[in-house]
Amino acid sequence: MTKINENFLKLQDNYLFATIKKKEREFKEKNPSNSIINLGIGDVTLPIPGEVVFSMKRASEEMGKVEYFRGYGPEQGYEFLIDKIIKNDYSDRNIDLRKDEIFISDGSKCDISQIINIFSRDNKISIMDPVYPVYIDSNIMDGRTGKYLEGKYDNIVYIPCVSDNGFMPKIPQEKVDIIYLCSPNNPTGMALNKKELKIWVDYAIENNCIILFDAAYEAFISQSDIPHSIYEIEGAKKVAIEFKSFSKTAGFTGIRCSYIVIPHELKCISSLGKEIELNYLWKRHQATKFNGVSYITQRGAEAVYTKLGKKQIDRNIKYYKNNAKIIKNGLEKLGMEVYGGINSPYIWLKIPNGVKSWDFFDELLNNTGVIGIPGVGFGTCGEGYFRLSSFGTKEDTVEAIKRIRKYFNSKREI
Ligand code: MLT
Repeated sequence: MTKINENFLKLQDNYLFATIKKKEREFKEKNPSNSIINLGIGDVTLPIPGEVVFSMKRASEEMGKVEYFRGYGPEQGYEFLIDKIIKNDYSDRNIDLRKDEIFISDGSKCDISQIINIFSRDNKISIMDPVYPVYIDSNIMDGRTGKYLEGKYDNIVYIPCVSDNGFMPKIPQEKVDIIYLCSPNNPTGMALNKKELKIWVDYAIENNCIILFDAAYEAFISQSDIPHSIYEIEGAKKVAIEFKSFSKTAGFTGIRCSYIVIPHELKCISSLGKEIELNYLWKRHQATKFNGVSYITQRGAEAVYTKLGKKQIDRNIKYYKNNAKIIKNGLEKLGMEVYGGINSPYIWLKIPNGVKSWDFFDELLNNTGVIGIPGVGFGTCGEGYFRLSSFGTKEDTVEAIKRIRKYFNSKREI
């Protein structure tokens, strides 16, 4: 009989967000009259900006005309979009990038889960705990982890991000080769400032390691000392790959567009001792495994950088930031310990009275109809925490906080 990839058997039962969806469905079936408010998965609720709609419509019409029709696009992405990315996201921040250092893709989840394909399995991987589950799951599937024991996999160096260290990752004691960093962080909402990120870049330079820098939530940065790109830090081009997404920035969760930056300076070594550019390896990877993002989508992403597009996006980001404020203030008024929500769309809540994450999930759902994400779903260091997303509608957000406050206030009166 044909054999399976045994590594899949090492995975936890379900992907975290699929488990939450299943629980929501089951609850709805049992309680059809209860209204549910989903502040769980970070999925946007505002429609895509008008500029993007307009541009995608026009691009669709072009595809219907013989003189404008396009088949397969360039694998790395269309130049019109790459130019806008370089100008707006990098040159304007004094970062020089070449066109062929940008790779347009269909979502950070795909990029970040596949990037490991270009690295040897001998590398020691280091991952923050708690963490976006895709980092760890993709390493498990690829056979880079050992046994699972007490919430942790062998062969992974975990970097605990807990309240004692302000949820900030600290340099691991053990020598590592690949470091996943996410800032602003999903799920804790913390963000590394320039000084803190420089420590990581310097460490990577000194120790010949690579940083995989997930900046999917960069648009939510409010404080001026938080870098929007790791390349704002000197030397980072030699050690970092950056992942950016239009999903949360421009409401593209359903459209799908992202990009990844691999500077030519970034090199690793082959078993024969030859230095190889990672840019070359990823280009080769994409040429084989990816056929590019649709022309229509890329025209939509391009519109994000027009004057009007920027204005519309800014308005949407402000809307979500206001939701974050509503959640943060509402929970703080209950005397709860709350993190995040300033440079990030996520609120990281310390669950009162030592209640465990999944118990709190059930308690909140059963008593208020509000869905969030149990912190332990992001790793053992997330136990006792709970994540709420600010991507709901304002009405839902206000209502969710009203219900939570009512429930906790009534509990206190008992
Ligand atoms: C999250 O809720 O953590 C993210 O939205 C999930 C994702 O982007 O895949």
